[in-house]
Amino acid sequence: MKKITIAATMFLAASALQAQQNVVTINAKDAKHTISKNIYGHFAEHLGSCIYNGFYVGDTSKTIANTNGVRNDIIDALKKLKVGTLRWPGGCFADTYHWKDGIGPKDKRPAIVNKWWGGVTEDNSFGTHDFLNMCEKIEATPYLAGNIGSGTVQELIDWVQYVNYDTKSPMSDLRKANGREKAWNVKYWGVGNEAWGCGGNMVPEYYVNEYRKYATFMTDWTNSDKIFRIASGSNSADYHWTETVMKNIPTNMVEGVALHHYSVIDWGAKGPSTTFTEQQYFTIMKRALFMDTLVTKHAAIMDKYDPQKKVALVVDEWGGWYEVEPGTNPGFLYQQNTMRDAMIAGVTLNIFHNHADRVRMANLAQAVNVLQAVILTNKEKMILTPTYHVMEMYNVHQDATMLPLQIKSNDYVVGKEKLKAVSASASKNKDGVTHISLVNIDAAKAQEVVINISGASYTNITGRILTSKTLQDYNSFNNPAAITPEIFNGAKLTANTLLVKLPPFAVVVLALK
Ligand code: AHR
Repeated sequence: MKKITIAATMFLAASALQAQQNVVTINAKDAKHTISKNIYGHFAEHLGSCIYNGFYVGDTSKTIANTNGVRNDIIDALKKLKVGTLRWPGGCFADTYHWKDGIGPKDKRPAIVNKWWGGVTEDNSFGTHDFLNMCEKIEATPYLAGNIGSGTVQELIDWVQYVNYDTKSPMSDLRKANGREKAWNVKYWGVGNEAWGCGGNMVPEYYVNEYRKYATFMTDWTNSDKIFRIASGSNSADYHWTETVMKNIPTNMVEGVALHHYSVIDWGAKGPSTTFTEQQYFTIMKRALFMDTLVTKHAAIMDKYDPQKKVALVVDEWGGWYEVEPGTNPGFLYQQNTMRDAMIAGVTLNIFHNHADRVRMANLAQAVNVLQAVILTNKEKMILTPTYHVMEMYNVHQDATMLPLQIKSNDYVVGKEKLKAVSASASKNKDGVTHISLVNIDAAKAQEVVINISGASYTNITGRILTSKTLQDYNSFNNPAAITPEIFNGAKLTANTLLVKLPPFAVVVLALK
């Protein structure tokens, strides 16, 4: 416990008055929704070096320690991260993927061409067994994305039977013949991906019929296996898509509706991943904060058809998207990850927490070597990105009860535009510890934040911070620990009021007991 003198208390009170423009009010009594661990999900697509030369180096690798071909350093890092769901095999790739190509003896598997991502030839050495066994090692919950674009209903129901049936069936016999006795019991299933685009360029009125057909055969009448079917969702602000899906698919046929939103400056000029300007940073933060509007509006549509909130909003692709690193394959989407990405992660997770009643799963795009990755690899080297560190600092919120809050924030101004500088979320875990996550997105100004908490009392505070010298800083293979979380001493507790000094572009997580 921090002992606070009378003089210090008066100083804090005076500072609090000066800084009252940033005020967070937390009401611990009104807590009712759980922050699902599944919000901390990731995405692993057959894209660039996410799977091959990323997660999977093959079991003959002499230089990289692995378990059945999956890098041990990645397994350890993702276990520590406490990954929720791990989505595979796409993405756009999912609607071209025929799962039977990826089972059985590796030398008998057919090669395929990855038509969406670089046109490279893959040997299918990483398939269903490899993915699901890897999830067991990482302790992540698998989420399989089914192919409804170029696949068939029979193919998808065979996949469900192959991975989930313990009783005798043609597909469980095949699984056993391929060396896996026990079913994996995969709960989460995507019914197509981006059906409005690479998943088939469908209009929503057509997609809903496709969805209903596939969803029917994936289960029995009562869905006694309790699989969780996720409908392909809207592209950012396509509210008509969500409206059509919710209106035409009964809530007993769908457990989740997806939403994809990337923070992109402009699809034609995405800007560099590390040498960006403040204006480019500001635009990316504007796009990231837009997630709040998206989630609010899609959730309001869902409320009309599903007032009991049975169906989850599943943000199964989100993150920053920039130009690829110079000299790399444009189809591989390989980009570096800076403090800007840490800011995106911090504000986005706060938004998901604050909408925990409806947002019950999310998947950052993507886990390894693609887009806003938490891990980058280069031969035997592996680094953890600033995004990794934010997700690790924030994982204390997993399965905790969200504490509702209001924020009064200063503006972060660039040119004629402004954004709220301070973002926050809070939760209380089963041991009674309250965690508060704070982000100051302002590129230059520190922010003093007064946090008033009602309905709980605390005597002890600790904290961690992620920040750096410049927004453009990143962890490189030569300097992998340039940005790592540190102990934060910038918060003072008096009675139930906290005064926190957030440096510019910083992410802070506080623990109160
Ligand atoms: O994450 C990269 C791609 O972005 C995915 O394959 C697709 O679903 C989205 O357009």
